[in-house]
Amino acid sequence: MQEKWIEINNQKVYRKIDRIDDKIQSMLKKVQTGNINDLSDDQKTECKKRKLINEGKMTVYKVSKGEMFTLDIERLETELTPEMIANGSWREKKFKSYDMDALGIPPDAGHLHPLLKVRTEYRQIFLEMGFTEMPTNNFIESSFWNFDALFQPQQHPARDAHDTFFISEPCDADIDMIPKEYLQRVKKVHSQGGYGSQGHKYDWKIEESTKNILRTHTTAVSARMLYELAQQKEFKPVKYFSIDRVFRNETTDSTHLAEFHQIEGLVADRGLTLGNLMGVINEFFKKLGLTKLRFKPTYNPYTEPSMEIFSFHDGLKKWVEVGNSGVFRPEMLLPMGLPEDVSVIAWGLSLERPTMIKYKIQDIRTLIGPRVDLQMVYNNPLCRVEKAAI
Ligand code: PHE
Repeated sequence: MQEKWIEINNQKVYRKIDRIDDKIQSMLKKVQTGNINDLSDDQKTECKKRKLINEGKMTVYKVSKGEMFTLDIERLETELTPEMIANGSWREKKFKSYDMDALGIPPDAGHLHPLLKVRTEYRQIFLEMGFTEMPTNNFIESSFWNFDALFQPQQHPARDAHDTFFISEPCDADIDMIPKEYLQRVKKVHSQGGYGSQGHKYDWKIEESTKNILRTHTTAVSARMLYELAQQKEFKPVKYFSIDRVFRNETTDSTHLAEFHQIEGLVADRGLTLGNLMGVINEFFKKLGLTKLRFKPTYNPYTEPSMEIFSFHDGLKKWVEVGNSGVFRPEMLLPMGLPEDVSVIAWGLSLERPTMIKYKIQDIRTLIGPRVDLQMVYNNPLCRVEKAAI
């Protein structure tokens, strides 16, 4: 009715024209035949409004032959071989150009274990502080150097098979390897005392001190080195350190192994005090980024006074033990022949603990031993000791 095609009169429908020109239908026919561009903009808008058509964009790419097009495939050489040079064939060949930006193939070389990387860092700190490394290449030690020289009595529980590994073959050290006069002085200070000390007052036995063991601490090496120092004509102050393996007969769990590495530092000089010890320890730990230190009195058979070292762990928000220290007893130093006014201050810590924290290793058994995953060794980055890494 709107188009005036029909009319309604007296409820009857009348046709008003003969031919209907359906504009919409003809528009849609144009769309169907693909001639959409024949529609005027108004017509398009009209069709879109009535959701009869959708308009979108289509991008067409055309690939055609380029000027270097060929059907003969030419091989580009990637390598210039000695044969090509010898027979002159290199003249005819075409070579692939070098890609100067290509990354190299990672060399199939060894990878340092995290413990070795952390050891390097500690060694560097000692060297910066002017310390000299002690020779620690003897895992097997006599009880003499491991215990007796350190004024540790022969009935001390640490000298039991439950705590120490005893060697069965050869079970005894060659007694001639222990300096005779020194041995007598050690025997005397243990059994009768001397140098102002009462000693331990017991029946000291040579058989006990020649027993071969796996060293339980690197302080055995420090004892050997201090004895050597005492034998020099004139006393000269020294600063020594060592980082090496020690062995204890322990039940293994996630934080204990029967072998681990000890880091040890010592300074021998005239008139050193506990203040010097705290100073040098502060300096050492400062280089590791640990500035908040606390000392707690403790007991070691060979040091007096002795202090445990605690550091505030920013991550854990608590004080954690980071080492042990002390001033070596006169009963240890004087029998060696060191001058009376010489004191030796020393401290020790484990290498495993900071390594586990640094490399986020939860179980020590995955750090060393048969359960080590070689991929872990391959993947782990270099060690850089930085603040709060310990
Ligand atoms: N030898 C000690 C230990 O086994 C560490 C230590 C070294 C303590 C030097 C005092 C002085 O734990």
